[in-house]
Amino acid sequence: MTTRRKVSPEELDGLDLADPKLHAECDLTDAWRHLRQHRPVYWNPETGETPGFWVLSRYADVASVYRDSARFISEGGNVLETLLAGGDSAAGKMLAITDGPRHGDLRKLLMRAFSPRALVPIVASVRRTVNRLLRQALEQGTCDFAADVAAGIPLGAICDLLGVPDSDRAHVLALTSSALGSEHADATAADAWTAKSEILLYFADLARQRRDTGHSDVISLLTTSEVDGVPLDDDEIMLNCYSLILGGDETARLSMVGAVLALLEHPDQWQALKRGEADLDRAVEEMLRWTTPALHSGRTATTDTEIAGQPVRAGDIVTVWNISANRDEQVFCDPTELRLDRTPNKHLTFAYGPHFCLGAYLARAEIAAVLSGLRELVADMTLAGPSRPIYSNFLNGMSTLPLTLR
Ligand code: HEM
Repeated sequence: MTTRRKVSPEELDGLDLADPKLHAECDLTDAWRHLRQHRPVYWNPETGETPGFWVLSRYADVASVYRDSARFISEGGNVLETLLAGGDSAAGKMLAITDGPRHGDLRKLLMRAFSPRALVPIVASVRRTVNRLLRQALEQGTCDFAADVAAGIPLGAICDLLGVPDSDRAHVLALTSSALGSEHADATAADAWTAKSEILLYFADLARQRRDTGHSDVISLLTTSEVDGVPLDDDEIMLNCYSLILGGDETARLSMVGAVLALLEHPDQWQALKRGEADLDRAVEEMLRWTTPALHSGRTATTDTEIAGQPVRAGDIVTVWNISANRDEQVFCDPTELRLDRTPNKHLTFAYGPHFCLGAYLARAEIAAVLSGLRELVADMTLAGPSRPIYSNFLNGMSTLPLTLR
């Protein structure tokens, strides 16, 4: 159903794993297997002005880099895009690219908004949204599952979390789509930059309005809290609000779209889900492993060190590939098979260690709501046209999935 050119291990030396086209258009399953077996700490060479970087493909090595946030830091950037560009201006301010005690303090603060108890109303609202969007799609008979259903779910939840007023939501959605841009072939870098700046300004404005009010949303939490005895400044507040959109919108969207595509490609698993033979929680974990929406994370080595016997120098860029770790045959039995009843299933889709995804509980609840909505409301679904991939070296999945629903 999704045919991608298979890349053979012999081609590896001529490839650049930072190239978005490679991930969008090619099937790298055999190449990743080869890297895990024969070159687990692989050097992706520099291209022109762009530096080279280490590529880790084995589950054990990926987990050990995630765990060791002293030897492998995030402040130089945590994805190839910023690491290769020489850094991220939000370092030390935005949670995901902050290290050490400040990261711990900021995380503790944000965790308050992400506890299962705090998320009860948000999850209830997610379920209502999923049912509403699925019913609308069923009434119409056909839809683009990515744009018409999935797009409304995570961003709605994040807007709920941040307390974005209903009247502003369409505006925030439009800005987010332009800022991330990867779905639009004709979008320019300048469009994306303008949209990003507008989102930051929007949150700065909202934060100013919330400073003295008794709201209970994340913005209010950030504006009224201190880290190390010092209140967060406007920059830190708006960057951390924006980071929830960056971290939680497209990733969760791609996992839902990928889950539907996986069910279309595995009718036996779709029937098992429909008949109630597949436990919902296990099915969610398998969909997370299967779709792996964040292909990689990146770190910078702080000291001369070794990974699996390979010397690595201080300052080197080290990338860990969740997509490969989640198919590691040393950890997963028949990793290239979709099994909704897979257990154990300790995938690394949400990373591991100190930067483990803050939104994991929410993302799981969103995917569970989609699977349960499909199970209850949809008798049959078929592909109604070609699906289109996202062009990115970080995000993995489909930007378009035309469906006929019954
Ligand atoms: C961190 C993946 C959903 C917010 C991460 C990381 C990964 C990840 C791999 C670690 C990054 C690193 O180590 O450098 C995903 C996936 C999701 C998802 C695949 C959906 C399926 C969400 C949601 C939110 C969120 C829904 C919030 C609304 C965050 C934040 C961090 C993070 C704030 C930084 C945590 C820290 O540095 O302590 N996510 N995420 N994510 N995620 Fe998610």
